[in-house]
Amino acid sequence: MNELTVPVITIDGPSGAGKGTVAQMLARELSWNILDSGALYRTLAYFMKEHQISLAEFEVRADEIKDNFKVSFDPGIPGEPVKVIFNDEDITASVRTEEMAKLTSTLAAEPVIRDFIKPCQRDFMIPPGLIADGRDMGTVIFSDAKYKIFLTASAEERAKRRQSQLKRQGLEVNMRSLLQELEERDRKDTEREHSPLVPAEDSVVIDTSNLNPEGVVKKIKTYL
Ligand code: DC
Repeated sequence: MNELTVPVITIDGPSGAGKGTVAQMLARELSWNILDSGALYRTLAYFMKEHQISLAEFEVRADEIKDNFKVSFDPGIPGEPVKVIFNDEDITASVRTEEMAKLTSTLAAEPVIRDFIKPCQRDFMIPPGLIADGRDMGTVIFSDAKYKIFLTASAEERAKRRQSQLKRQGLEVNMRSLLQELEERDRKDTEREHSPLVPAEDSVVIDTSNLNPEGVVKKIKTYL
């Protein structure tokens, strides 16, 4: 891979580790572009569902999907998730549901899906810089990035954060089932054959369980 001309900071880690908030804060502070690769996978899952495209017919319809798959991100405002713009429409609320997370986790394990998404992700490398949030940003997609962060936190803490996020949206969810679903997704993401969720060897690992987002950003800035 060529040496990167656009600086990239990769932020990987499991759901609820704080990647989204931290990526948003850094993108706003540095005025850099943001890639929420999880949302990219979610958007593809959403598109496939809307257009009733099965995994079996994905390859034969890949050109048609590519022509209609125009995704961009807006870091949005603090306290709210990064906005997902698909074909000029804000689809943030439609893709950030537990149902879409579950469907996406299954699709994201498929090589045909990962191969399709890979070049779309590199297209986000636009000056002055990119904050890339995901699971395999530092290990696979931007393995040539200079700055690599891996955020982690206990499953209980991550489930608690997700519960408060859903509460703010007016949704009550059972903590036990939330924790179970999160652990199941962790298992799928870390045990899959293609691009499993692991810290890059040259990444800085930060446990965010006892840190607020400002504390995490401070640690990252010290590293940078
Ligand atoms: O971060 P998230 O919850 O929005 O991610 C949704 C799903 O996409 C999650 O199950 C893992 C998968 N994903 C992935 O496989 N690789 C990435 N780089 C980002 C997300």
